[in-house]
Amino acid sequence: MSQPFLQIDGLAKRFPSGKDDTLTVFENVDFDIEKGEFVCIIGHSGCGKSTIMNVLAGLDEPTDGVVTMDGREVSGPSLERGVVFQNYSLLPWLTALKNVTFGVKARHPDWSAERIRQHSYKFLEMVGLTNGAEHRKPSQLSGGMRQRVSIARAFATEPKLLLLDEPFGALDALTRGTIQDELLRIWQDSGQTVFMITHDVDEAILLADRILLMSNGPFAQVAESVVIDIPRPRKRTEMVHHPAYYKIRNHLVDFLSSRSAEIAASPREKDGSRRQPPTVRPGAEDDSPAPDAESARPHLVSLAG
Ligand SMILES: Nc1ncnc2c1ncn2[C@@H]1O[C@H](COP(=O)(O)OP(=O)(O)O)[C@@H](O)[C@H]1O
Ligand SMILES: [Mg+2]
Repeated sequence: MSQPFLQIDGLAKRFPSGKDDTLTVFENVDFDIEKGEFVCIIGHSGCGKSTIMNVLAGLDEPTDGVVTMDGREVSGPSLERGVVFQNYSLLPWLTALKNVTFGVKARHPDWSAERIRQHSYKFLEMVGLTNGAEHRKPSQLSGGMRQRVSIARAFATEPKLLLLDEPFGALDALTRGTIQDELLRIWQDSGQTVFMITHDVDEAILLADRILLMSNGPFAQVAESVVIDIPRPRKRTEMVHHPAYYKIRNHLVDFLSSRSAEIAASPREKDGSRRQPPTVRPGAEDDSPAPDAESARPHLVSLAG
């Protein structure tokens, strides 16, 4: 039996709360990610998405459970896992360019300085930061620009696993669209595996092979694995005309607006075996008529918090 590229097994996170009490943020989280897959995770604020991602990165320890990547247990950070945090984390004393070359140099100690610079430059160019901004320090850049540097840094190190925590939230719509397209291109060319947290349903449908849906905490769980049956390459403007699109979108919106609060924590199987989330394919049958204008009107779901 071949192991999946990434295996998340019985993950739980608990915090002490009050005198002899504990707060269980999530538990019994089991899922796999195959090599080259693009998986998004969606759920309301506080359910534990960032915690799970930090555990995958090796930056946080779960209370229970094990993460295995390429057959080896994750037990600390590694250059094979690149992270873009919700709140960009750059080295404040280095310029934008040096923040990128720093990671590339660590990843490729045998590369010449010129090769490292050119490679880093290419990724800064991709995020639109080569018009002088590359020589500025983080304090001299806007929030959106800093986030673009941290995206360039993570992409430039070309990790096996790219972990993205709401990376595009601080960007304007135009930059966001460009970087989403670049991300898709890089992912398609590189065979990288991507795990991404987003609160944007349309972004998740555009990018993902599968979307994991997380129920609300405490005792949150990964409730479903939703397969995105929309062929690639996907284009924002064309995708909305695909018959599966509104079925998937409605399924996600319905989960977030009602079902995510109703799903109760379920215990592990009696024999202690893993319980992966059920696979759901809302867009699988595309023989029903396209939705009328009324039902196709976008729903607004607030995940702010
Ligand atoms: N040190 C801590 N003590 C108690 N609770 C914590 C601590 N750190 C995080 N939490 C709780 O863990 C939960 C999950 O947080 P997080 O992973 O950031 O959620 P998300 O990314 O889904 O918004 C939150 O409800 C938060 O209150
Ligand atoms: Mg978070």
